[in-house]
Amino acid sequence: MERRPWIRFAAAALFFGLLASCQRAERYDPRKPRAPAKEANQQDSKKLPLEEDIVWMKDLQDDRVVQTPIRFVHEGTAPAEWAQLKYFWNDTTAAQAAGIIGLPGFGGLIGVPAAGKIQPVIVIRVPLGLDDPTPFIPSNNPLTLAKWELGRELFFDETWLNAKEKQSCASCHNPTMGYTDGKREVRGSFNTPTLMNVVFNRYQFWDGRATYLEEVVQRTLEDERESDDSDGFHHVWNGVVGRLRRSSAWANRFADVYGNGPTQDRIGRALATYMRTILAGNSLYDRAEQFRRKKCAQALEEAHFAAVLNDRDLRQLERAKAAKEVVSGDLGRGTELFNGKALCSKCHSPDKGPLMQPFHNIGVGLADYTGRNRAKHTGRFVVAPLGEKTRDLNGAFKTPTLRSLLRTGPYFHNGQAETLEEVVRFHLAARPGAPENPFLDPVLARPDGFHKNLGLSKGEIEALVLFLRALNGDDVDDAVRAPPPTKKADPD
Ligand code: HEC
Ligand code: HEC
Repeated sequence: MERRPWIRFAAAALFFGLLASCQRAERYDPRKPRAPAKEANQQDSKKLPLEEDIVWMKDLQDDRVVQTPIRFVHEGTAPAEWAQLKYFWNDTTAAQAAGIIGLPGFGGLIGVPAAGKIQPVIVIRVPLGLDDPTPFIPSNNPLTLAKWELGRELFFDETWLNAKEKQSCASCHNPTMGYTDGKREVRGSFNTPTLMNVVFNRYQFWDGRATYLEEVVQRTLEDERESDDSDGFHHVWNGVVGRLRRSSAWANRFADVYGNGPTQDRIGRALATYMRTILAGNSLYDRAEQFRRKKCAQALEEAHFAAVLNDRDLRQLERAKAAKEVVSGDLGRGTELFNGKALCSKCHSPDKGPLMQPFHNIGVGLADYTGRNRAKHTGRFVVAPLGEKTRDLNGAFKTPTLRSLLRTGPYFHNGQAETLEEVVRFHLAARPGAPENPFLDPVLARPDGFHKNLGLSKGEIEALVLFLRALNGDDVDDAVRAPPPTKKADPD
């Protein structure tokens, strides 16, 4: 077939048009050095002979080669090394000075000596009960100390995030409150979720509209379609890159870490690095599970709790005065209910994040679906990719982690429940006067569509709440939870 010249012309125009528009994009790097960031850019030209367009890719390699890596040591994958580590956060340079190196089991701890030098490594002892986070770290953002430190500074600093008021990630995800704000329905209608153990999230946000932790601060209003009747809270802050670039202190900090100034990607990667170390485990449940594994028992039961229960646990369970046998009996009962009659384990894993299908409509925050509000409250449905949208994603929200509940209340995506008892009761039966809900999850719905009444007694509900309390382990280690020692950045 004969090609018409105008088609060729159009193709060429399109090609050059695209080329030009590519060149216009400034997302990854400042094209022209701006005055305050001068130092950083001068440093670049010495260090990085790459073309400006791809200069941002260079730091992916820098991460691996130059910087001190952070490595996880997990009970299951490196038991001997795990048992030997005393602390959550282990700086191997210090270990080297103390002469620990050379002990059997520490073989893998220190990087292979290159040219007689020992490469420092930060080693994190993964708290008991958690999965090994290593497979959850994306290969394009390996954990390094430099990024982690920058991420922590960004996380706590109140000057760069919000143009109008002092605000930091920590103002809402407050480490002293389980990385939440403890407030009820203040962010639109979204309750601030905890960041504890977020490394294991397969989806971010209540409706799962983001996948990677790198994405949560790189959002635009277009990414943030409303999936609830949120009155305008979006996880978006405008102008952050510009504010960081205009501050020479921050520009220098980024140059220290990446060899170049602030970009969206670098902000995201530093914050994600920090967030991936917010780990908390070692609950009574985790210790009982560890004991069960030792005994090679099939199911977790009363005796396993009895073997590990201590006075501190009793206080946390608010049963300080009760006899241990009684409490472990109740815990055994709670476990059985959780995995059986109360149906909890159909959607939740007690110690891990959500199971295979993470989004469910359990009737939280519903107006009347049949009435005027029908278009609202569509939860996961709105943001699910085409082809994955199914009817039951209407009003469905992410199944939250059940770890650390004693630190993260109020509960549910809209913060409507204050107490764990309220939460449990909500799952077990319809509330009087609850509107008809055609999208209620099949696990909780009767064949006629109404909420099942599972018929649990008061004592059984108490046993379930006790079990939830037993999932609350140690707080996040101070090495991660505490703000950075000195404030390095002071934007002008
Ligand atoms: C004004 C309060 C506020 C601030 C400031 C804030 N967040 Fe959030 N964050 C929220 C709320 C509310 C949600 C839930 C939003 C949703 O699900 O739609 C959330 C969700 C998240 C999530 C998803 C967690 C999950 O389990 O789904 C991450 C990760 C996160 N924030 C990290 C950050 C980081 C990092 C910063 C700082 C750059 C930050 N947030 C600043 C309120 C805030
Ligand atoms: C059909 C799936 C399903 C079943 C069964 C189920 N849950 Fe849930 N659960 C969810 C979802 C989804 C949420 C979040 C709902 C929301 O906020 O819209 C949730 C929220 C919770 C929360 C609040 C956590 C927080 O941080 O806000 C707790 C606690 C909880 N469930 C415990 C239980 C217990 C105990 C049982 C058994 C009695 C149970 N769940 C049964 C899906 C389920």
